Amino acid sequence: MTAPPVLVAIDGPAGSGKSSVSKEAARRLDYGYLDTGAAYRALAWLALERGADTDDEASVLALVDDVDYAISLDPDDYWVRIAATDVTDAIREPRVTAAVSGVARVGAVRLRVNALFRALVAESARAGVVVEGRDITTVVAPDAPVRILLTAEPGVRAARRSAELTAQDADAVAAALHRRDAADSTVVDFLTAAPGVTVVDSTDLDFAQTVDAVLGVVTGALHTPLPSAQTGAHDGR
Ligand code: DC
Repeated sequence: MTAPPVLVAIDGPAGSGKSSVSKEAARRLDYGYLDTGAAYRALAWLALERGADTDDEASVLALVDDVDYAISLDPDDYWVRIAATDVTDAIREPRVTAAVSGVARVGAVRLRVNALFRALVAESARAGVVVEGRDITTVVAPDAPVRILLTAEPGVRAARRSAELTAQDADAVAAALHRRDAADSTVVDFLTAAPGVTVVDSTDLDFAQTVDAVLGVVTGALHTPLPSAQTGAHDGR
């Protein structure tokens, strides 16, 4: 029988570099990559499509019962679909970002998507999966052999996010990020490390240094070197 995939759990707030760092760490480890925020975003997108009220828990729950959701775990071929519709880009739109906290605060929704995340990891054919989100180290996979909280100072996170969203006003981006952190942190505490979780603070690190810091935690925890073909500098894939 093949061993189940090794789970590398990475939590952190928006703008900590979590998604890009997790994806690159997965490439270097030859692991799968699971973006859990995409499921909440896809539900928020569907709520907007259907005109459902995200303040009404029953309406949100009805969406989960109905959604035909698929996500790629390949870090080199990332996509998100709802039925036949590719929503990879649509779920990043500001209107979706503004609606997502309303979906993520519903406890019954979280139970359902957490079961989906565990099933997706279990089905992966790779040796491991890097799973990133807000409650992976604490709720989805508290027993994962590697658990990391990726943080950065709020000002640095806001600056990174506004550099990504160049079309939007920097102050407005910072305000939206802080509002979303405040709303999300009432549901799960992703700003404090739970016991046994290693903090990687990316405030003074660039992208490559942050990836290396994360890989250092992974290899230290698993007592294994990186797959030999994947070591060395970031190859831009
Ligand atoms: O990481 P992200 O910005 O794509 O996440 C989108 C939203 O989903 C975010 O506002 C918080 C929520 N989320 C969550 O509550 N739990 C997770 N494991 C991942 C995301």
